Amino acid sequence: MSLVQDVVDSVAHQCARVVGQVVPKSMITTAKVANEEGGTQLLTGIGIGLAVAGAYAYMNKAAPAVAATAPAPFSPVVVAGKKDVETEAKTEASSTLSLATVRERRNRFAVQINRGDDTGYQCSHFLRSGGEVEEMLEQYELYLKDRTYHHLGYPYNLEFKGEILAPFLQFSINNLGDPFVESNYGVHSRKFELEVLDFFAAIWKIPRDEFWGYTTTCGTEGNLLSIIYGREKLPDAVLYCSKDSHYSVPKAGNLFRIPVVLVESQMSGEMDYDDFRKKLKENAGKPAIVSINIGTTVKGAVDSLAEVKSALADNDFTAENTFIHCDGALAGLLLPFAGESEVANSASRLFQVSFEKGVDTISVSGHKMLGCPMPCGVVITKKQHMKRFAKTVEYLNSTDTTIMGSRNGQASIAMWVALQQKDGIEGLKADVSLCFRNARYLLGILREAGVSSFLNKYSTTVVFERPPPACVKRWQLACTGNIAHVVVMPSCDQAKLKAFVDDYLQCMTEHALAGGGRPDIAGEIGAENCPPFTPSKHSRSTSPAP
Ligand SMILES: Cc1ncc(COP(=O)(O)O)c(C=O)c1O
Repeated sequence: MSLVQDVVDSVAHQCARVVGQVVPKSMITTAKVANEEGGTQLLTGIGIGLAVAGAYAYMNKAAPAVAATAPAPFSPVVVAGKKDVETEAKTEASSTLSLATVRERRNRFAVQINRGDDTGYQCSHFLRSGGEVEEMLEQYELYLKDRTYHHLGYPYNLEFKGEILAPFLQFSINNLGDPFVESNYGVHSRKFELEVLDFFAAIWKIPRDEFWGYTTTCGTEGNLLSIIYGREKLPDAVLYCSKDSHYSVPKAGNLFRIPVVLVESQMSGEMDYDDFRKKLKENAGKPAIVSINIGTTVKGAVDSLAEVKSALADNDFTAENTFIHCDGALAGLLLPFAGESEVANSASRLFQVSFEKGVDTISVSGHKMLGCPMPCGVVITKKQHMKRFAKTVEYLNSTDTTIMGSRNGQASIAMWVALQQKDGIEGLKADVSLCFRNARYLLGILREAGVSSFLNKYSTTVVFERPPPACVKRWQLACTGNIAHVVVMPSCDQAKLKAFVDDYLQCMTEHALAGGGRPDIAGEIGAENCPPFTPSKHSRSTSPAP
């Protein structure tokens, strides 16, 4: 029997094991390709979608990583024997490491649940000898490089060029108190902070003499501040947010003893406005603090400010008894810079992250789209909201208007530098356009491989079937139930996304070959986003970007 015949038989046999159904041998494709040693290698694959939805056709465990010759409509999938080592170890820092070394390095900095027998109080174990300190920090740097390369799950842009900040790390820069009221503590970066605030006030359209805000610790702090400011305006209010809101929003309600009304979400993750109307009626007579999502955490859905305002107006709410917060942790810096063509003729929401549209507060994280190397953020509001909350503190010689006391002055410099390095709005527009393009590319290659997947309008968050734990851990994916996502950020280029998808498919195939099931996520993303794919109002173009 020829080698080709042998391989085809073996693939057919394996498919039958995986999907419990015989796959016609005519569907199995083979191709001879050059291997790394200069010889040739036989590659084999099947159309995954055709081989009964549910089969992952990674069959060539010994083949090198090469692009497959793809029969329509699905590409055969090719597995690389050495790919695991490559994807694990091939970082900018270390291209020749063995898998064992990479794993050892990662484990060294993992949190140890079992910390040994020593339950005493001695600090002696903490101290390391001189050489050990350097060695540990060197290893840690390599660990960080590896983990930075293999990061896709959280909305963090890991591309920051931070050397420029090095001279300032020797200073304890603290903007304690209000950014606009200089404290007696002189080692601060208020000049940078105020310039950053001016920038955000301009993009979110509120005049300089009307706004107030500050550099926060993170998006969560922006949500906390906004909601407590809402309560200062409306002490008897109810806090409305959708079930897809970030956990910090209902947490703010709990912290500040504000009753929280969770509104149902649509399949896409966007607020269900019918349910919102229903709940407004149920709580008639109580003022409303409404937190709307400018990009939900899991599915990247954007709530419609117009729908929220129309529901409020229809229920006799006015500006006097409402307070609207925009949680724009990621997309507060994405929507304002998206071109209309990128959101397929539905641009109205691009312009809603704006004080001109009647919102009271907007918050964003600084380490997400902007890519600052420390957690940080910005919150902007109207001056009048700050005034209800402000208290003078003699000891500070500043005003207590913020949630925190001490505030990281390095963060304001980092945000200022990030905006300068990006050339302000032009750079942000370029980043946003790249992220939209690459998100469509990722959706396209997942769908070509027959993976149930979904990308919301106005979003770069690609949602798909949750892979086995090894893949989740390797790529630091964020998962909820049966779904996982990749948030496509400026630091995710198409080569990295392709390497991820190859590894993802390999993990899924191995899982299937070992008898594992495939998650059915039609209930989470809609049947039209599961194979066989049909166009729907929520699904985006499946063709890879050029
Ligand atoms: C919608 C949304 N809001 C708030 C946050 C919290 O932001 P941070 O992690 O900066 O506190 C996140 C984090 O992912 C988020 O997705």
